[in-house]
Amino acid sequence: MSTFRDPKERTMTAIPSFTMNNGRTIPALGYGVFLMTSDQVREHLPQALELGYRHIDTANAYFNEVAVGEVVRDAIAAGELAREDLFITTKLFPQSYPYAQAVEDIDATLARLGLDYVDLLLFHQPYGEYVSGWKAMEEAVAAGRVRSIGLSNFPIAKFQEILDVAEIIPAVHQVEAHPRWNQHELKARMSEATGTEVLVEAWYPLGHGDKTLLEEPVIAAAAQRTGATPAQVILAWHLAERNITFPKTLSPAHMADNLAALDVELTAAEIATINGIPQQPYYRIPDEPPAFVLTTNDYSQQA
Ligand SMILES: NC(=O)c1ccc[n+]([C@@H]2O[C@H](COP(=O)([O-])OP(=O)(O)OC[C@H]3O[C@@H](n4cnc5c(N)ncnc54)[C@H](OP(=O)(O)O)[C@@H]3O)[C@@H](O)[C@H]2O)c1
Repeated sequence: MSTFRDPKERTMTAIPSFTMNNGRTIPALGYGVFLMTSDQVREHLPQALELGYRHIDTANAYFNEVAVGEVVRDAIAAGELAREDLFITTKLFPQSYPYAQAVEDIDATLARLGLDYVDLLLFHQPYGEYVSGWKAMEEAVAAGRVRSIGLSNFPIAKFQEILDVAEIIPAVHQVEAHPRWNQHELKARMSEATGTEVLVEAWYPLGHGDKTLLEEPVIAAAAQRTGATPAQVILAWHLAERNITFPKTLSPAHMADNLAALDVELTAAEIATINGIPQQPYYRIPDEPPAFVLTTNDYSQQA
């Protein structure tokens, strides 16, 4: 027996939001555009918006911000959406962190998107001059160019370096998170360090296409009981864990399934057994920047 509503019905319903530590809200489910070409964004992002997605996760380093901005501005111009209906996240790469460069590159990011502000801006990687750059992030908030700021992939010691200079605590931390890497320890360490909740945004929320994650016996059992798919069970687990997700898919059927996962209700026992899955990340954040991090900050070439 299915415990979730028809996806078409879900599109009529607001996507649930979490409240961040700055009092602003963030939709719990969004659409991620990592590894999507600009043409794929132009084709698939309108489908996602049509289905009811309102939260988009991109980055300077995805080289598709121009296309994301085009799609969003087209939808607004067509009267389908208002800017306030949308939650748009992008991320700076480390070569943009030195304070003066960050000031310049935040403007360049908004220019590529063709937007007056983004809802959330993150430091994408824990390398380079993130300590000096955080001030530029805070100034962008004060100037109304960015609504909330946060981090991605920062080990707790580097997260603490930001806290040591921060007037604005990171609102979110985007890290690898899924049933095999539940980030309970990081969440506890961040709460201890900040005295508040720093919401986790989960990358690889479905294991980046790893079928063995979907086949974990406790996930399969919950799928059988609820009539949901294993991917939906994993997304329902994220929601119960207060993780924000933006699974990437080029398939409209999967886009609809992922929205419908918002209606899947797991029992406390199912959540506990999923949290009992042995822990192992797909990716370990190196202490030193890998070569790909030290690339150009010329994002004019958008695939
Ligand atoms: N900050 C960072 O360093 C970082 C790193 C990685 C990712 N991210 C963000 O996180 C987002 C998601 O990560 P990701 O794309 O790497 O991994 P993911 O969302 O865990 O996995 C994407 C894979 O899941 C499949 N999928 C999606 N919905 C499905 C469903 N309902 N049923 C079965 N399979 C489904 C997709 O295939 P189909 O196309 O066939 O549906 C695709 O192969 C990215 O787009 C990006 O925004 C951030």
